[in-house]
Amino acid sequence: MAFLTEERRTHRCGDLRGAHTDHDVVLMGWVHTRRDHGQAVFIDLRDRTGLVQVRFDPSVDGDTHALGQTLRNEYVVAVAGKVISRGENVNPNLDTGEIEVLAHSAEILNPSRDLPFQIRDEVNASEDTRLRYRFLDLRRPPLQRILMLRSRVNQLVRNALIDDGFIEFETPILTKATPEGARDYLVPSRLHPGSVYALPQSPQLFKQLFQVAGYDRYFQICRCFRDEDLRADRQPEFTQIDIEMSFIDEEDVFGTVERMLTTVFEGVHGVTIPTPFRRMTYREAMDRFGSDKPDLRFGLELCDISAQARESGFSVFAKTIAAGGTVRGVRLPGGGLSRKQIDKELGKTVSTYGAKGLAWIKVEADGVWKGSAGKFFGEDERAAIGGVMGLEPGDMAFFVADKPAVVFAALGALRLHLARLTDAIPEGQYAFCWVTDFPAFEYDEDDGRWYSMHHPFTSPRAADAAALEAAPGEAMARAYDVVLNGYELGGGSIRIHRADMQNAVFGVLGLDEAERQQKFGFLLDALSYGTPPHGGIALGMDRLVMLLAGTDNIRDVIAFPKTTSASCLMTEAPSPVEADQLAEVHMRAVMPEKG
Ligand code: AMO
Ligand code: AMP
Repeated sequence: MAFLTEERRTHRCGDLRGAHTDHDVVLMGWVHTRRDHGQAVFIDLRDRTGLVQVRFDPSVDGDTHALGQTLRNEYVVAVAGKVISRGENVNPNLDTGEIEVLAHSAEILNPSRDLPFQIRDEVNASEDTRLRYRFLDLRRPPLQRILMLRSRVNQLVRNALIDDGFIEFETPILTKATPEGARDYLVPSRLHPGSVYALPQSPQLFKQLFQVAGYDRYFQICRCFRDEDLRADRQPEFTQIDIEMSFIDEEDVFGTVERMLTTVFEGVHGVTIPTPFRRMTYREAMDRFGSDKPDLRFGLELCDISAQARESGFSVFAKTIAAGGTVRGVRLPGGGLSRKQIDKELGKTVSTYGAKGLAWIKVEADGVWKGSAGKFFGEDERAAIGGVMGLEPGDMAFFVADKPAVVFAALGALRLHLARLTDAIPEGQYAFCWVTDFPAFEYDEDDGRWYSMHHPFTSPRAADAAALEAAPGEAMARAYDVVLNGYELGGGSIRIHRADMQNAVFGVLGLDEAERQQKFGFLLDALSYGTPPHGGIALGMDRLVMLLAGTDNIRDVIAFPKTTSASCLMTEAPSPVEADQLAEVHMRAVMPEKG
């Protein structure tokens, strides 16, 4: 029997059901497992749709049975046979478990060497080994499910936006640096000695220029590149769902994103996400959750006790307030943590964010406070702090005293840590939220200058425009983030559409006339030729798929990801190049000195 030429594949492995009983089928796939029962050989044959059991029985065909005996895991085989009922021996764990395929002929299309790890749902190989053999790792059913989910999300996003009147365009990959806060990846030019292209950190300026050109409601599912420190939710190249619209305000962007996301969640998980999403100002998010990407699936909110701490018997608190700092705490209802957990685990969490210590107390049944700081508080102070925090006997409370930025970062992280320790995070909930009213600029003490909190093309609020240069720290931006379960899923803003305002913002950022022309001359030009009011957003596709797939590792949702040191273990990129290849692009490597 000539497989592939005469005998074409008739079905996918995972698609066979009881209704196919007595059908003649031709399957092709990978040997997932083989069991030789002497009488007959059984294999589970696998393709991306699932597994089906194939039986090689000597009573059907001796040669085919003999071939079955030579099969090993991950051989690629073609099998022709008849679908038969498994009768009593139904396997309820398999979608195809009601039937099996009785092989009457088969062919090994390609054998496989011994594997570095088994193709199973769970593997115990290191992540490095899995990344080195990513093509094998990607055969594992959990990863196949995630990547197929990703394909489905792509399709749902595209359909939802097109149904909403959007048009899809592409923008250049070889381009000029656009500041989004990270370092650029650079590509040297052969034709322009000493000059480089930058890979886009986002298509920000191009999508704005599409609006200048009249292409209202643009979208793109596009690759972005950022040379930044990597974390569990960050990759050097990642995918954005990039959106820009004209003649709109914040509400239009929120509506568009909410329609798209509800379509995606309905399509993938069959869940109805309530809209409109909750909204919260940046100030409220920081005050209550210590984070601009609050996880709203649980409480454990921060509480400001600065007023009570001013005269505190605990000198750390009083001194911090006197120095212009803040003291805040988190109440853990019912307490229940051990001193060791607190000192070792929680103490480490807050110190990672710069806190000098973690004071904690436990309220005893008689109202007395124990714990690392319990003894420093008198009765009146206990009543005052207990009152604002709502402390009850049995509760614990944790405090950090420092500069506001340190207190928010430390307690925001502590809140998440406490939620995980006490199993306070409900499964299967999607808590969406818009965070709005961000400050326009933040001051960098080290550099001694202002930076845009979102990016330099974000419009300040109209009311703040006049005083922009006098008091940049007071200005609020028309920027917003969409947050899901503690992750920043996307961010965007209403843009500046007038050259005078763009120049004012460049002024705050300290760009002189020459720099403005050299970096953004084309944008300033465009803004002076009839630019419509416009705005938009970009969502992280990888983070969206991560949350839909229920994983907290972004590498799981990217087919060929990079390690945390930005290398690909499979292709060994990045790799050194020959000197003459560098010479061709007029570059020379300057190696760092060994230290
Ligand atoms: P921003 O920089 O906030 O905005 O990026 C938008 C979204 O992209 C995702 N994201 C990342 N995902 C994985 N790895 C990374 N390294 C990474 N960096 C960002 C996040 C983030 O919310 N041009 C603006 C958008 C706009 O103003 O319209 C921009 O890029 O989910
Ligand atoms: P001490 O008096 O130094 O033994 O500290 C008593 C408790 O206060 C310890 O649990 C310290 O970790 C904690 N502590 C020290 N500095 C701070 C701070 N800046 N904020 C919160 N707690 C602190």
